[in-house]
Amino acid sequence: MVPAWLWLLCLSVPQVLLKAQPTELYVEVPENYGGNFPLYLTKLPLHHEETEGQIVLSGDSGMVAEGPFAVDPESGFLLVTRALDREEQAEYRLQVTLETEDGRVLGGPQPVLVRVKDENDQVPHFSQAIYRAQLSQGTRPGTPFFFLEASDGDEPGTANSDLRFHILSQVPAQPSPDMFQLEPQLGALALSPKGSTSLDHTLEGHYQLLVQVKDLGDQASGHQATATIDVSIVENTWVPLEPIHLAEDLEVPYPHLIAQVHWSGGDVCYHLESQPPGPFDADTEGKLYVTRGLDRESQAEYLLQVWAQNTRGEDYAEPLELQVVVTDENDNAPVCPPRGPPISIPELSPPGTEITRLSAEDADAPGSPNAHLVYRLLIPEPEGRAFELDPTSGSITLGAAPLQAGQNFLLQVLAVDLAGAEGGLSSTCEVAVLITDINDHAPEFTTSQIGPISLPEDTEPGTLVATLMATDADLEPAFRVMDFAIEAGDVERTFGLDWEPDTGHAQLWLRKNLSYEAAPSYKLVVVVRSVVDLVGPDPGPGSTATVTVLVERVVPPPKLDQDSYEASVPVSTPAGSLLLTIQPSDPMSSLLRFSLVNDSEGWLCIEEGSGEVHTARPLQGAQPGDTYTVLVEAQDADEPGLSASLTLKLHFLKAQPVPTLLPALVPAQHLCTPRQSRGVVISGASGNSDLASGQGPYSFALGPNPTVQRDWRLQALNDSHAYLTLALHWVEPQEHVVPVVVSHNDQMWQLLVRVVVCRCNVEGQCLRKVGRLKGMPTKLSAVGILVGTLAAIGFFLILIFTHLALSRKKDLDQPADSVPLRAAV
Ligand SMILES: *[C@@H]1O[C@H](CO)[C@@H](O)[C@H](O)[C@H]1NC(C)=O
Ligand SMILES: *[C@@H]1O[C@H](CO)[C@@H](O)[C@H](O)[C@H]1NC(C)=O
Ligand SMILES: *[C@@H]1O[C@H](CO)[C@@H](O)[C@H](O)[C@H]1NC(C)=O
Repeated sequence: MVPAWLWLLCLSVPQVLLKAQPTELYVEVPENYGGNFPLYLTKLPLHHEETEGQIVLSGDSGMVAEGPFAVDPESGFLLVTRALDREEQAEYRLQVTLETEDGRVLGGPQPVLVRVKDENDQVPHFSQAIYRAQLSQGTRPGTPFFFLEASDGDEPGTANSDLRFHILSQVPAQPSPDMFQLEPQLGALALSPKGSTSLDHTLEGHYQLLVQVKDLGDQASGHQATATIDVSIVENTWVPLEPIHLAEDLEVPYPHLIAQVHWSGGDVCYHLESQPPGPFDADTEGKLYVTRGLDRESQAEYLLQVWAQNTRGEDYAEPLELQVVVTDENDNAPVCPPRGPPISIPELSPPGTEITRLSAEDADAPGSPNAHLVYRLLIPEPEGRAFELDPTSGSITLGAAPLQAGQNFLLQVLAVDLAGAEGGLSSTCEVAVLITDINDHAPEFTTSQIGPISLPEDTEPGTLVATLMATDADLEPAFRVMDFAIEAGDVERTFGLDWEPDTGHAQLWLRKNLSYEAAPSYKLVVVVRSVVDLVGPDPGPGSTATVTVLVERVVPPPKLDQDSYEASVPVSTPAGSLLLTIQPSDPMSSLLRFSLVNDSEGWLCIEEGSGEVHTARPLQGAQPGDTYTVLVEAQDADEPGLSASLTLKLHFLKAQPVPTLLPALVPAQHLCTPRQSRGVVISGASGNSDLASGQGPYSFALGPNPTVQRDWRLQALNDSHAYLTLALHWVEPQEHVVPVVVSHNDQMWQLLVRVVVCRCNVEGQCLRKVGRLKGMPTKLSAVGILVGTLAAIGFFLILIFTHLALSRKKDLDQPADSVPLRAAV
């Protein structure tokens, strides 16, 4: 026994710490102390020597009165009066205070914890004397199938209660003496590896194990106890399971039992896992449940694994596998493919051309009727024969009915499962089809013959000649783009074509000056073509148009050198006087034809060709100072439509005496009657050097005597000369004095022209002396002349006939290549 003072020594160390109130004072007391009592435990840290007072001990559960603790009033030590049992009470909580007699507290309270220090005074014992355990064949070695339970009253966590289990003996010791192994600390009983192999050969059996439990851990000493375990070997019921077929969407109450497993060994827990995770569960009895309806389409198969485990979650054996196959129900309608953009099919595609192959999906089990789809064309009605549908493949093809470019179709196809049988699920699929254009139409002109279009010769280049219009029956804008060209009829490239490729309008315009002489007409062949290559038939005649252009000749209207002419005319001017000459401005221009428009007095006449204006008669009634205006028209001789007009203004002057020139000054000339071609040339300047001076034309007119006017004609030869001829076929042969009025530079005078009119011979010579013919012939002389003439004619006739008779005779002998006598006649 440990002496009391030693204890004091041991316990004095904590005393120092007690200064810091109210730290708990901790004291240990050995259990079952075998020495003298009272046992001084520790000096209480209350200084009652210096103060009047006494230490009062208090504690839990009224222990102070009959409890084992007390305070020594002398020394102030805490003491224990008897042996303590830890198993009875392991700890005591005390409190000490220093009080006066009347109960006034002088110090404290000081808490004190008294702990009873354990002694190995307790024997371990099993919970049962005999245990019964079941061991299933097939249990893995090392997996505990039974747990021993033993207890020890000593303080837990100390060696005094640290228990170890051991198998002391095994009966029978067959086929191996150590079939089992016992985990020493836990008391977990398992098959030993050797026992596992030998157990397979044993059908059933029974083993009795004597087991020991001992405290003080692995020390050799310690208290111990024994017990017996009866181990029954039972048949292995952990057998593989047949796959389970479960219909999807099963309408039963859930959870629904689908199978049961059983581990015939001892304490067992079942643990289930599903691969992939699914709604499965196992209960403590090994019943397997599905907890809700399955959907084959989301998961068609599960692999369940069920483990049999001991209470610590260790596997007794390999898990059992259970295949769950979800069987199909027709719970999915066919699903149409999404409606895409319209499928373009070129027009004129042959019947049978595949448009698309419709393929609806059915989520039900592939290959089963639930997923066996057939198709039926709803819209357009199959009777229209625009489209054909193969019920099994879903192939949509063009039917026999022709389709037009630009047509749009929305096909509706019914997809039915169960191969179309009654009760099948269906969906309506849509397929958009667009018939697209191909360039199968050539552009054509709306009019193939244009014109004739008349273009004046002077049409300015750049002028629009014609607009040609063409159309194209194709729809696609790209196929309607056209090209135009002049293909023939315009070698010189006189015409041009402009067009906007997509309007169908072409403008034909003039590029160059036209010339009637070079080309009086054009026949232009214009063609229109599609820019994009044409599919199908070649362009017909409609793609050609003919434009006929006629060039109009442009002749400028006649132009005269003056717009108006004026002349001053004495009122005494005789008839036939040349007043003036109207001339074209360009002597080279075409011939003009002049006429007077409104010569109401009839005073004037105009030479149609030359433009000379004469007085037609004496100007009777004209008053000096008056003005007479006449309109003259000049017509183009070739183009009567073209004409110009001008005014002719005559200012009348007082009658002027016309100086008469001496007839002697004009030599007499002779003219033949009957009239021959000869005439008399009269010079305006003849014999009048005074008056005829200066420039300017002379004009000539016959004197006003009507007989003269009747018998004679005066023509202007040129500016200075005129030509006098007989106007009648026959004029009395005698000497005539013809008055000719000559005007020149506003001067006027009269020439008396002496002309001898006589009979002439063949050579144009006068037959008689002019002098003998003077005066009228007598009747006698006329008869004489007549007789003489007739005699001469008779003589000539005889000569001629004689000659003819001779020459005819000659003709018989020789060819008549020349007949000189005839010419002499
Ligand atoms: C066409 O005619 C106009 C007027 O007559 C003329 O001015 C022009 O020079 C001509 N052009 C050609 C190229 O002959
Ligand atoms: C002839 O016509 C013109 C123009 O109209 C006119 O001025 C003139 O007086 C007319 N002359 C006669 C004689 O009527
Ligand atoms: C006019 O004609 C006459 C006769 O023919 C001739 O002698 C004269 O030279 C001519 N005068 C002119 C200017 O031509």
